[in-house]
Amino acid sequence: MASDKVSIHGAWASRWVFILAATGSAVGLGNIWKFPYMTGMYGGGAFVMMYLVCIFLVGLPIMLAETLIGRRGRQSPVNTLKTLAIESGASPKWSWAALMGMIAALLILSFYSVVAGWSLDYILGMGRGQFSGVTADGAGAAFGALTADPWRLTLWHTLFMLLTGFVIARGVVAGLERSLRIMMPLLFVLLLILLGYSMTTGYFMQGFHFLFDFQPDKLLDGVLAAMGHAFFTLSVGVGSIMVYGAYMPKNASIGGTILTVGILDTLVALTAGLALFPIVFAGGMEPGAGPGLMFVTLPVAFGNIAFGQIMGTVFFILVLIAAWTSSISMLEPAVAYLVERTRRSRVVVTSVLALLCWIVGMGTVLSFNIAAEAKFFVFADDGFHLFQWGAEGGRNFFDSIDYLTSRILLPLGGLAFAVFAGWVLKREAVRDELALKSPLLFGVVYWLIRVVAPIGVLIVFVAELMK
Ligand code: TRP
Repeated sequence: MASDKVSIHGAWASRWVFILAATGSAVGLGNIWKFPYMTGMYGGGAFVMMYLVCIFLVGLPIMLAETLIGRRGRQSPVNTLKTLAIESGASPKWSWAALMGMIAALLILSFYSVVAGWSLDYILGMGRGQFSGVTADGAGAAFGALTADPWRLTLWHTLFMLLTGFVIARGVVAGLERSLRIMMPLLFVLLLILLGYSMTTGYFMQGFHFLFDFQPDKLLDGVLAAMGHAFFTLSVGVGSIMVYGAYMPKNASIGGTILTVGILDTLVALTAGLALFPIVFAGGMEPGAGPGLMFVTLPVAFGNIAFGQIMGTVFFILVLIAAWTSSISMLEPAVAYLVERTRRSRVVVTSVLALLCWIVGMGTVLSFNIAAEAKFFVFADDGFHLFQWGAEGGRNFFDSIDYLTSRILLPLGGLAFAVFAGWVLKREAVRDELALKSPLLFGVVYWLIRVVAPIGVLIVFVAELMK
């Protein structure tokens, strides 16, 4: 029997709302911005294939682990791990893993908000027809002008952080559940409109072949990137999914639910690719542009095809919604924790945390312009410098936070959660929560959580550090 505890923060009305919430968290800039450009960079079909393997063998088992831990503990991730560790006779210090994850989530939010803010700027720009007939140089210059202007970046970053804080402050049911019920269906409708449109461009099959034609020689190019992306796109490793699991009804089946979320997230990424690459080809552009794909290549494409202005606007609204339903999941673990700890209202706690993320996010804003030369983690001829102005190598503030979170904190967090579910929780507890009918299926799933996922993370983690 599953645990009877309930969360003090509220509960989703049904398992469908959990699916909306977890899918909302998972589907974000990762699917619409990162996945298509990474596919473009790492050679199409081969990358897609590796990505699918990483999702199913490592990402989903970790997501399953997070969800079942969260639902069993019914508190913020930090207190959940503490309680469950003590119940299982392990050290309460396990809660540090959740604390690290919580901080990672806030750090991700700090830069996510800045990039998501760009979509606000592009909604306006597209809507006003600023990109009609634009050339590649023109679009590059427009993007350059945006990132060079700290005031404009600050405006959008502030606005996006307010949007995020607003939903979170209203609470699990009145804020998150209510907005997810509106935003998620809208997101799917917009995506389908875009897909339908890309089918009319005459380049659909070219896009299709690019995504799915399989080139075996490229298979190993993007493995590391694919694994890192599997974590990011499923939102695992920081406690976002864990805290959503804490609000899940106790009779809902976790296994089927998580599989649904994983499939939906993958479908959205593939559909985004199928919708975008034909548009890129129709606009006479190259798919391998890297991170600029969404903010430079696509505007050129949209600016030069029929109905591009309106479809471009639709596209950036889609990006905004996807980013918004993800950003709330980054704030929730910390909000839940501080509400439990300080017993202050959600509004107060949310305001403080959003302000904090906003301040850190200003580092990202400035790293595109005034402070572009401020470099961290510099390995120079005269040794290592944590900080050096104008250094040759090193990473600017934005790159440093991105690197620290997605390459180090996410894998470590995911590893900790899988090991916790697989080795610290009692086998019976896991069996109870999963409530799978077939013992064979349980055996396989349990083995994925205990062995396959941790080893997969470790391999990639070490390989990444040695690069
Ligand atoms: N999964 C989201 C995306 O694809 C981003 C995201 C939301 C996330 N919550 C997270 C990433 C927690 C890492 C950790 O854009």
